[in-house]
Parts: sequence; C-alpha cells; structure tokens
Amino acid sequence: MEFPVKTGEPGSQKTACAILPIFEGHRLKGPTHEVDISCGGTLSQLVKTGSASARPGRTLLVPNLQGAATDRVLLVGCGKETKFNAKALRQAISAAANALSLTGIKEATSYLAYAPIKDLDEYYAARTTVEATHSALYRFEELKSKSSGKIKLSRLPIAINDSQKAKDARLGVTHGRAISTGMRLARDLANRPANICTPSHLAEEARTIAKRYKNIHTKVLAEHDMKRLGMGAMLSVTHGAEEPARLIVLEYKGTGADVAPIAICGKGVTFDTGGISLKPPPKMDEMKFDMCGAATVMGTMEVLGILQPTINVVAVVPACENMPGSRATRPGDIVKTMSGQTVEILNTDAEGRLILCDALTYAARYKPRYLIDVATLTGACVVAVGHIYTGLFSNNEDLASDILAAGKRSLDPAWQLPVDEEYGASLRSNFADFANSGVRDGGASIAAQFLSRFVEDTPWAHLDIAGIAWKSSRDKGATGRPVPLLTDFLLNL
Ligand code: BES
Ligand code: MN
Ligand code: ZN
Repeated sequence: MEFPVKTGEPGSQKTACAILPIFEGHRLKGPTHEVDISCGGTLSQLVKTGSASARPGRTLLVPNLQGAATDRVLLVGCGKETKFNAKALRQAISAAANALSLTGIKEATSYLAYAPIKDLDEYYAARTTVEATHSALYRFEELKSKSSGKIKLSRLPIAINDSQKAKDARLGVTHGRAISTGMRLARDLANRPANICTPSHLAEEARTIAKRYKNIHTKVLAEHDMKRLGMGAMLSVTHGAEEPARLIVLEYKGTGADVAPIAICGKGVTFDTGGISLKPPPKMDEMKFDMCGAATVMGTMEVLGILQPTINVVAVVPACENMPGSRATRPGDIVKTMSGQTVEILNTDAEGRLILCDALTYAARYKPRYLIDVATLTGACVVAVGHIYTGLFSNNEDLASDILAAGKRSLDPAWQLPVDEEYGASLRSNFADFANSGVRDGGASIAAQFLSRFVEDTPWAHLDIAGIAWKSSRDKGATGRPVPLLTDFLLNL
C-alpha cells in the first residue's frame, strides 16, 4: 500500500475520497471547512442535522459531492479538538480505514493529521497513520476457503499543512510501512494454529527472512545441539512432545563486527497445554499464541532488514511444544540448565521461564550490550496490568526508561513492575538450586526474578506480553504488539 505525503490547499486537491475530521463545536474548521465551502455548505448541513457526528470513531460517507474537487468525503468524528492527540488520531484513522474497507474505494486522502496535532510531530503523525491503516485492514484469511472480499484500498495520500515537514512525514511513512510489515508477519505467525505453526515452521520462516536480506543470517539448532550445549531446562519442556524443538538464531549485521549487539529473545511455545500440570479446558485454544514473543522478535528482525539501521542485533528463539505424555517431565523432576544451575520443576506449566533461561544463557555468549526477552510468560501479569500495558522488568534503570519512552512514542506502552530479589524467596527448593514456580501472589515478578538469575550483570529487560499479544472473544487474534515498541527502541539507539 502507498502513502504519498501531500502538501497544498485541501479544497483544490483531486482525490476519490477526502477523509475529513469533524471536531466538537458549531463551526467546521481547517480542511473540512474549505471543502465545505467548495461544495456549498453540504458538510455543515450534515453536522447541523446530526447525520455527521464528532463522536470519536463515528464515520459518515458522503457520496457524489457537488462542486468540490473530491468525489466523496468520509467524515470522521474526532472529539474535542483540544484533546486530539496521538491516540485520538490512531482511533480516527482506524475508524476511517474500517469504513473504507466496506466500500471497496481504492484511494482516499487523509486530512486527519493536516493541522498540527498536540505533542505529535509530523514523523509520528505519518507513522501512526500508516500503522493504524495497516492494522485496521489486516485480515487473517489464509485458512479460509473463501476470502471475505472488499478491501480495495491501496493508496492513502497523507495531507499535511506544513510543507517544511514533508520530509519528516515521509520518513514516518517509511518507518510505518516497515513496522507494519513486521507486525503483519508477527500476526500471521501467531494466528496460525499449532498444527501448522510448529517449531520447524518458525525455523523455516526465519530462513525465509534471512533469504530476503543479505545482512541477516540464520542458524537453526536441533535437539542434539541443545543437548551438546547442556540446555537441560529447554529440553525438559519439549520432552513430552513428538514435534521436534528448535533453537532459532537470527543475526542482523548493520554495523562493524566490533560493535556489541543487542540480543532479543522470544518465547516460542507453539502450544502450551501446561504439560503434566495440565491447563483447564476454557480458552485453551489461545495457547497457540504462546509463541507471540517469538513472533515479535521475528517481526522485529524483518523491520531491521527493511530499514537497515546501523546496529547489530541477534535474535534467539527457543521454540517447542509443552505437551503431556509418558515421556513428559513430571512435577518434582530436576534439570540442569545451560548456566549450570539446577532447577526443580514443581509446575510444568511454568515452562516459559525454562526455555528462556537457556536461551538467555545462550544469548549472553554474544556479549550483548542489552539483553531483552519478550514472552507471554504469566497470567499474573494480565491480572496486574490487564490488556493495555506490556509488563516491563529490568535490572537496569537506564534501559528500562529507554524502553518505557519507546513504548510511549510508539503508542505501544509498557509499565514497569518490580523484580527485587525478595520476590525469589518462594523459589527456594530443598532438592535443587531453586524451583521453577513459587507462590501465586506477585507471580509476574517471581517469574522475572527467576529469569534474572540467568543474565548475570548484562543490562537486561523482560517484557511480559501475556495480556497484550492477542485479543480474545469476537476480535480473537494476534495484535502484532510489541513490534512497534521494540523497533522504536532499536531505531533510537
Ligand atoms: N503461557 C502461560 C501464561 C499465560 C497464561 C499467558 C494465560 C496468557 C494467558 C505460561 O506458560 C503459564 O502457564 N504460566 C503460569 C505460571 C504458573 C504455573 C507459575 C501462569 O501464569 O499461571
Ligand atoms: Mn504454561
Ligand atoms: Zn506458556
């Protein structure tokens, strides 16, 4: 999809459809006012009669507009003008894209970010426009026998008032398109069911990414390699599964080999039954999303391939299934991790930390500047921050604040939670160095505390995305988060 940046008088620009904001109040302003004048007041009439509303998310398509340079107009409710900010812009764009997807219109010009927006520069305004459009138009239909049709939108010019800022906006479009491509990959991988999206499938997809970019290389380790490396924790999780596990490594080289890389690890449990500590039936299908950390990391690598920033990044994805069965790990079993520390597995459903601890030890061998893991790790994190924020845990305040800032800028926010050593108290074990699960209260911090024992002094951050990586109910499906946060962080290094 194309997003050319346009400057110039809104009333005179030819377009199949002008997307115009309606703000609260009696008089139309800015581009909406100018188009209203050229068509003899049709738009203000629609507002007066209540057909068009300023209520956020409301849209009204006005066909056959007489007198204006535009054939049609899509009026979009934008609320109070003084409150119109980044989030409101995103909501307005989504509403517009949804409305357009039902019409089959091929081209439409957005004037939603024409006037300067509070606390939002042209770069982010354009980037938000692109990301929100792609997100709204995303469908997962590869496994339906018939496509649902419509959605012809292929060109969305972005009109801005300040021609001096066109260059910034164009960079926003470039980044927005790349991030959207990464998010689409992440969503596709995560939406695929576990009988298709297996560890080997993730490995194949990683190879496909590496094939597209000359400075991305991939390495896929099999179970015998993991055995050689001493990854007893990772292997204990895959033990009950017939499906072979994989450890996928993707290396992006954007600068000199002497520059320390950023390491990103993504939990890739392609299905989490809980193992012998079997989960209850309700919503168990959603445990196909337990590889959203892996999907995020792979989507982020795709973005790096497209944008080619001058950094080095290594992605490590431990991928396996967590299944019950006669060969499955039992509660009470003790394993030796790659770090040498031993773990008593009290709950086989606390498997994410078991595959991640070995992946973190593996990633630390790259001597990374930062080590960041992304995982659908705990239900407790969902209880703590719901479906809005990523839970952020870190042993380094500078790293944490950079990640929080990236989350704010990209509208993909994170909220910092504690990892103090005291949270590890209930991991005490009489039989091994420590256990993989403790008390229920503070469970997200306990999991993070477990992981922190495998990163030593490396500046490390853990993103618990259990609440934000996918949606349930009618909108069930992967969100592509936190690809925007992670890429924003990496692009700002
Ligand atoms: N993948 C789950 C976490 C999860 C659960 C994410 C529900 C999203 C929705 C993870 O492997 C898990 O089962 N965690 C346990 C840990 C517990 C046994 C210490 C949990 O959160 O209940
Ligand atoms: Mn689990
Ligand atoms: Zn899990």
